[in-house]
Amino acid sequence: MTQPARPSLVVTPHKGIRHAFSQLSLIAGNTDYNNKYEVAELKEQLEEFGELLEEHAHLENEFILKALEAKVPGSSDHDEQDHLDLEAQQTELLAKLEELLDPTISPAEANQKGYGFYQDLSKLHTAHLEHMLEEEQVTQALTWQHFTDEEIMGLHVQIIQHIPPAKMLAWMKYILPALNHGERVGLLKGMQAGAPAAFFEQVMSIAEMVLPSLAFKKLENNLMVGAFQY
Ligand SMILES: [Fe+2]
Repeated sequence: MTQPARPSLVVTPHKGIRHAFSQLSLIAGNTDYNNKYEVAELKEQLEEFGELLEEHAHLENEFILKALEAKVPGSSDHDEQDHLDLEAQQTELLAKLEELLDPTISPAEANQKGYGFYQDLSKLHTAHLEHMLEEEQVTQALTWQHFTDEEIMGLHVQIIQHIPPAKMLAWMKYILPALNHGERVGLLKGMQAGAPAAFFEQVMSIAEMVLPSLAFKKLENNLMVGAFQY
């Protein structure tokens, strides 16, 4: 994949979101909806990822869209409305999984509702794919038109500073496997330089857990260049 020539505020999280939805879609497809343990696990994963999606939309609203709206009035309306619609769809989806945990539900009902959930997850997945593409092709183009690279990097720093450490670690599970090697090195070198050593150590543990061993070794070798040891 060719890297955008200008700094992007969305490519990294969007790669993570695309990965997380693919993973969820696979799990939702092989879940036995008559097995409460499997349904509870799916719900836990959807809740955790759902919180990341809500936070992502909130940060886009607060930092990217507000700044853009100040320069181009009306430019944020479409994306902000999308964020509201996507969140409402997500809430409905979680409620469907909650219904599947009802102990009185019959096996036939569980199968039927489980398949309904699977289809609704696909709808949410599709809606997010369309939304992200529009943000990358339309909103990002506007951002590049109206902001310098320095201003975009300033917004990036503000966004990163507003992500609590636990959420950042949760993001890493989805983002790290979704990036190519060069992007991974760039992201983690930034963390290695700017974050506390203990936090960076946690990020590396996640990287080891979620990356194929060769990809992890290659990453480790790149990050170990110099005197740094984690
Ligand atoms: Fe968005």
